[in-house]
Amino acid sequence: MEIDFKVTGKTKVMGIIGNPIEHSFSPMLHNSISKHLGIDTVYIPFKVEKNHLESAVHGLKALNVVGFNVTVPYKKDVMKFIDDNTKEALLMGAVNTVKNIEGRFYGYNTDAEGFSRSFKEETGTGFKEKKIFIIGSGGAARAITVKMAFEGAKKIYIVNRTASKAAELAEIINNNIDSVAESFGFDDKKAIKSFEASDIVVNTTSVGMHPEVDSSPIEENYQFSKGQIVYDVVYNPSKTKFMSDAEKTGCKTVNGLGMLFYQGINAYEIWTGIKLSEQFLKELFVDFKSVLENR
Ligand code: ATR
Repeated sequence: MEIDFKVTGKTKVMGIIGNPIEHSFSPMLHNSISKHLGIDTVYIPFKVEKNHLESAVHGLKALNVVGFNVTVPYKKDVMKFIDDNTKEALLMGAVNTVKNIEGRFYGYNTDAEGFSRSFKEETGTGFKEKKIFIIGSGGAARAITVKMAFEGAKKIYIVNRTASKAAELAEIINNNIDSVAESFGFDDKKAIKSFEASDIVVNTTSVGMHPEVDSSPIEENYQFSKGQIVYDVVYNPSKTKFMSDAEKTGCKTVNGLGMLFYQGINAYEIWTGIKLSEQFLKELFVDFKSVLENR
């Protein structure tokens, strides 16, 4: 019989809590990095029922894990069980990464950092002085817009199916970071004009995701402009209808795979203090993409 030494008494534990959790790619990503670096850590998925969230977090502390990720539906609810949440995470209203520092839990939002890093990596530019159009006003939109405002966006236009939520999000940004946000209803003429005049357009909704691949988050009265950067947080399919419509007008398009990848990379770096090399990340991203696209 072969003796397996992968996990020993010295192995440190990382993990992810959420529900459902079966389809998470995070264990594959984090365990691959640890294996490559020769770091004695294992990353485990934990399916947690809603009424067990608090005891799960306390249990993770009692078990002295290195850190853990938090996914749907607990990114907001988990915050009240964390000792210190970063200022950014508080404004984003969500924590997806927790680090254990000497028995205290610190909460971060690496979804936003993942978006920002993937955007820069894949487009070669950032948000400073940019006019940005955001579709949607849920958790992803809030993390992304707060980050963009912190990084110096000139203007952030927000539209949402439920207009009141767009207005609330704009207020959070204007009251806490910088008065750059403006919200509209979808049919507002100013929204349509702002869309055309924006440098960057981001779909933060799930519209267009498999199996609804023929849907787009915008109607025909919205026209892309040549040269715009169009980012879709959806990554399944790898090219959404929204992206292919944008490409027909000569826009650069990016899907949400990089955001998913870099939120994990950022979490790993926070937990271990290791800065992963650009070359390693490039190679890992290619492998990660091919696994996800061929699943
Ligand atoms: P996430 O954390 O992924 O952002 P969420 O917080 O549930 O998820 O937010 C989903 C966003 O997608 C919301 O802006 C939602 O619009 P509403 O606020 O009107 O619900 C938007 N969304 C989801 N399905 C949509 C659809 N079919 N058409 C338009 N917008 C949709």
